[in-house]
This record gives sequence, structure tokens and C-alpha cells, in this order.
Amino acid sequence: RQRLAYPHTLDDLCQVLKNAKKVIVLTGAGISTSLGIPDFRSESGLYNKLAFLGLNDPQEVFDIALFREDPSIFYSVAKDILPETSKFSPTHAFIKLLQDKGILLRNYTQNIDNLESYAGIDAEKLVQCHGSFATATCVTCGFKTEGEEIFPDIRNGNVPKCPQCQVREKEKNKPAKAKINDSDEDEEDVPKSEGVLKPDITFFGEALPTKFEELLLGGDAHDCDLLICIGTSLKVAPVSEIVRILPPDIPQIYISKTAVHHNEFDITFLGNCDDAVELIVEKMGWSLDHEMTRRH
Ligand code: OAD
Repeated sequence: RQRLAYPHTLDDLCQVLKNAKKVIVLTGAGISTSLGIPDFRSESGLYNKLAFLGLNDPQEVFDIALFREDPSIFYSVAKDILPETSKFSPTHAFIKLLQDKGILLRNYTQNIDNLESYAGIDAEKLVQCHGSFATATCVTCGFKTEGEEIFPDIRNGNVPKCPQCQVREKEKNKPAKAKINDSDEDEEDVPKSEGVLKPDITFFGEALPTKFEELLLGGDAHDCDLLICIGTSLKVAPVSEIVRILPPDIPQIYISKTAVHHNEFDITFLGNCDDAVELIVEKMGWSLDHEMTRRH
């Protein structure tokens, strides 16, 4: 994709925004850092804090094969990315404002903190590309539960167990108890993830929610008239491919603290996204309704 001849400045962006009817907002962890939730790849991000785990690559903490081998690795750090707040940032409020103005086609978020829902972004306007903490599923029997049910375990660094599997396990163990106690081998055969609940976050090695492809390829990619990417390093496919999937004549805006390597965006704002959206809103003559307390 070549950059377009227009737009290039903030004033141009406001002009484009005035004419836009179907905006895709693509978001990443950077839109929640002002609330105290770390991103992944910044210096202060989660991946830089994981050296103590001794993994080859810190991303493995979200690897489904490793989770099945030993879920305690994920649960030793999950509390760091579990939001302790239902507050949302000015950037979340900006996306909600686009929805209120009737010009939000879709918010594709890679975030798993579910804060978009607190900001009031409608479920049908939102694609949680990497799932979220809102629900959890047993990796063994598929039992589903509300994410909140496992928050206490996550906060304490414990591995949450599936209640259905625990009942089944008790039943199974009753008559065979003596035998199981006699045999160490039987216990060793049981994988560590047996009967473990996993938040419905998309791990590396898992498919994205079907909604992602259905909506993107089923219409959004062609309907969209402006793309605004905010607070993402665009390092994880297939979400990062959105910028290439859209028709090349659709203006693309990038707002983030760090520039992306292959910069084909028409406008790039490098800096705090909350400041950037406040500037845009002011220039547009709009007003932002948010309830966050900023941490400096
Ligand atoms: P990254 O940590 O890779 O990128 C976050 C981007 O936001 C970086 O470019 C930061 O510079 C920028 N940033 C941080 N705070 C900001 C702020 N206040 N204002 C503006 N920009 C800010 O996070 P993602 O791109 O979201 O996957 O990462 C994508 C996926 O990689 C995640 O969904 C996660 C991870 O592995 C899973 O959890 C499955």
C-alpha cells in the first residue's frame, strides 16, 4: 500500500472524520496502559517482566501447547493482566463517541481486558479478536463459566479447577481409591491441565473467534471508509493483516507511542493516545465523556 496524497495533517484527519460514515477502530494494549494495565512489548510491558519464567520466548506464556503441559506458568502471571478496574480510558470513550455519532463500523480489539464493554461499546460493534477474561472454559470437558468465577484464583496465582470435572473425579475415585493410591504411574499419566479452567483468551496456536473473519471478510473490509489503529504494535497476525486487507484507497491513521516498522499510514501520531484523541475531539468540536482517573 502506498500512502495517499491526502490526508496528512490533523486538520485533514478531522475533515476525513467529518465525512466518514463507517470507521474501523483497531485497538491494542496501549489504550489501557493509562489505567495501570501493562501492554506486552513496551519496556515496561508484560513480556519484559517474564525473564524469571525461563521461557525461550515470553510469548509462550500464551501458548496453548505449554498451557496444556503446565497451566501454572500462565496462572503465575495472569493476575498482572487481569484488570482490577471497571474504569475506561479517554481512548475507550473516544470509540464510544464514534458509536454515538453513528459512524463506528466496528472496533476490532486485541485486548482481553473487556473494558470496551464498560465504556458502553455495543456487543455487535465489538470484535474481541483475542477473546477476553469475560468467560472461561474447562480444557477437558468444555464446561463454561463466567470469568468472574475464576478471578479470585487468578488474583491469588492459583490454577482454577472445573467444578464439573472435580465432581466426576470424586465419583471416579470413590471405589478405586485403594488402587490409585497403590499406583504412582496412574497419577503421573494425568496431564497437569486435566480439569483446568482457562479464560476464553485466544492463545497462540488457537483459532480466533469466528466473528473476526466473518465480519472482516464478510463486509467490513469493503464497507469501511476510514481505519484508525490505536495503541498496537501490529506484531500479531492475523489482526495485523487488517491494514493490508482493506482497500488501499481507505485512509489509515496510526496513533501510538511507538512507530511501526513498515509505516504505510497516511497520518501517524506518536505519543499518548489519550492526549491524541482529546486533541482530535477538541478539533472536531465534540466532547468526551469518560470517568477515568489518570495515573501519572
Ligand atoms: P503491544 O504491547 O505489542 O503494543 C502496544 C503498543 O501500544 C506499543 O506500540 C506501545 O508503544 C503503545 N502504547 C503503550 N501505551 C500507550 C499509550 N498510553 N498511548 C499510546 N500508545 C501506547 O500490544 P498489542 O499490539 O496489543 O495477545 O499486542 C497484540 C497481542 O500480542 C496481544 O493481544 C497479546 C500479545 O501477545 C494475546 O494475549 C493472545
